[in-house]
Amino acid sequence: MSEHLINQGGIQQDLVYMAAHELKSPVTVLKAYVQMMSLKMNKAGQTDYLGITEKMDIQLDKLLNIIADLQDVTQITSGSLNYHFAELNIHESLRNCTDVLKLANPEVEIEFSLCSPDPVIKADKDRIEQVITNLTGNALKYSGSNKYLRITSTIENGNLKVCVGDKGEGISPEKLPYVFERFFRAGSADENKLPGLGLGLFICKEIISGHHGEIGVNSKLNEGSEFWFSLPLRVINQF
Ligand SMILES: Nc1ncnc2c1ncn2[C@@H]1O[C@H](COP(=O)(O)OP(=O)(O)O)[C@@H](O)[C@H]1O
Ligand SMILES: [Mg+2]
Repeated sequence: MSEHLINQGGIQQDLVYMAAHELKSPVTVLKAYVQMMSLKMNKAGQTDYLGITEKMDIQLDKLLNIIADLQDVTQITSGSLNYHFAELNIHESLRNCTDVLKLANPEVEIEFSLCSPDPVIKADKDRIEQVITNLTGNALKYSGSNKYLRITSTIENGNLKVCVGDKGEGISPEKLPYVFERFFRAGSADENKLPGLGLGLFICKEIISGHHGEIGVNSKLNEGSEFWFSLPLRVINQF
């Protein structure tokens, strides 16, 4: 690649980062106004339109997630994604993330099978919860009508392994090797109904590799998928 094109790539990255940064504040302010509006409507007993403000809030969260993904990708590309490591009870994180998911999607059934006692690792809580949110969110998004998730944690060979399984549409063997690539979407019949940039799993992979861990997937078309990640327990003192 010529130096000119490299610079142009850098300018584009900067532009995406800055545009995402600038979009974030008005959207955050808008979200605060929507929340204020629903509080005021609630207080005044005007509950007719609360469903609409709730839907606005959900859409604004989606927009904020897209903005955050764009910022993360530009940071990954420029090597400036930083981590703040501290002791983390990952089971608490699994519960936090699934509580939020359940709140927005009460119809989803989630089964847990977690190892005991709760493993404590050294990790960046926000980033690990971002991975869990992405994997559980995908499991639900690509689950079709079977809204069932199975979450397990096990200790294997000095690693903590977390699996998120679903009984959804699955991924074909030809597409499976590419799901962690930037912008890759395996494309189902319903693709148009399921918007996305194809960045979530790329970001997850980067975060897990930033924790010296591994991430992977087993999947069968029309039967379901199992996304997993593992994090080392023993080398925690190296961080
Ligand atoms: N649990 C899952 N079941 C079936 N397909 C999945 C699942 N998770 C991810 N995929 C496929 O991998 C692609 C990439 O996922 P992701 O990076 O999260 O991007 P996005 O959800 O924005 O499309 C998705 O478009 C989808 O085709
Ligand atoms: Mg996704």
